[in-house]
Amino acid sequence: MGSEVVGAVLSAGAEFSLTGKADPIFNISTVEEIPGAAAPVVVEKTLGAVFEHTEADAAVIFCVPSAAMQDIRTCMKHGVVPVIGTTGISPEDLEEMRSLAKTYGVGAIVAPNFAIGAILMMKFAAEAAKYLPAVEIIELHHDKKLDAPSGTSIKTAQMIAAARREDFKAAGEDTCARGENLDGVHIHSVRLPGLVAHQEVIFGGLGQTLTIRHDSIDRKSFMPGVLMALRHARGLKEVVYGLENII
Ligand SMILES: NC(=O)c1ccc[n+]([C@@H]2O[C@H](COP(=O)([O-])OP(=O)(O)OC[C@H]3O[C@@H](n4cnc5c(N)ncnc54)[C@H](O)[C@@H]3O)[C@@H](O)[C@H]2O)c1
Repeated sequence: MGSEVVGAVLSAGAEFSLTGKADPIFNISTVEEIPGAAAPVVVEKTLGAVFEHTEADAAVIFCVPSAAMQDIRTCMKHGVVPVIGTTGISPEDLEEMRSLAKTYGVGAIVAPNFAIGAILMMKFAAEAAKYLPAVEIIELHHDKKLDAPSGTSIKTAQMIAAARREDFKAAGEDTCARGENLDGVHIHSVRLPGLVAHQEVIFGGLGQTLTIRHDSIDRKSFMPGVLMALRHARGLKEVVYGLENII
């Protein structure tokens, strides 16, 4: 995802300038001449080291889940808005970010899914939940995905639960075959090679079902949302959780 972001930022032209890249896989601290970049790009193992050598208004974070909070703290302490794609961000992490935002006067954007179609899927699901409270989510991802259920399915379940006008109790709550129960919404996670990122939200009603499905078939699907978040990051002072709040 990091490589995709580099490509997307460079192809956006003069609106953005790429100043640095951080990943522990980079063996040496260096400065890279990248075609399309306005100036040489600082390359370091950590974000902290990047900020020692160059300035930034925002940093896009797609690191492994275990490193995300450390990177977020580094950004906010440096007055840089983190735009976070890494999934597995907990409610406690969001609370810490809100506190950091107050302390350092800088916001953050957390987006469990940057694909515009996935945001629409979540919004449509929240709308349908007002009329059809019986619902289950099936999320399907590539076999390298570390977390389950996916951040998108968790966010969808939260939005459905908040929009429901009446409680619904799904049948057979107590067997693992019924998946994870989140806010009363059952989530089933599929992990297979060949998949990218897909989700079905299936509503059931009297004699009918409604299926809302989104498929990311290429990692490029996330890039328009990343650029949208970067535009919103300018001067941001609060924590935004979910791209549906800025679309
Ligand atoms: N929000 C979205 O729309 C969206 C889309 C795709 C993926 N994701 C999430 O983004 C994250 C990354 O996905 P990916 O497919 O690029 O994974 P990846 O495994 O290809 O890349 C993760 C990168 O993090 C680096 N890394 C490892 N340790 C690190 C550390 N301590 N500090 C900083 N970086 C470190 C790795 O070297 C690697 O380059 C996952 O959590 C994934 O679920 C989110």
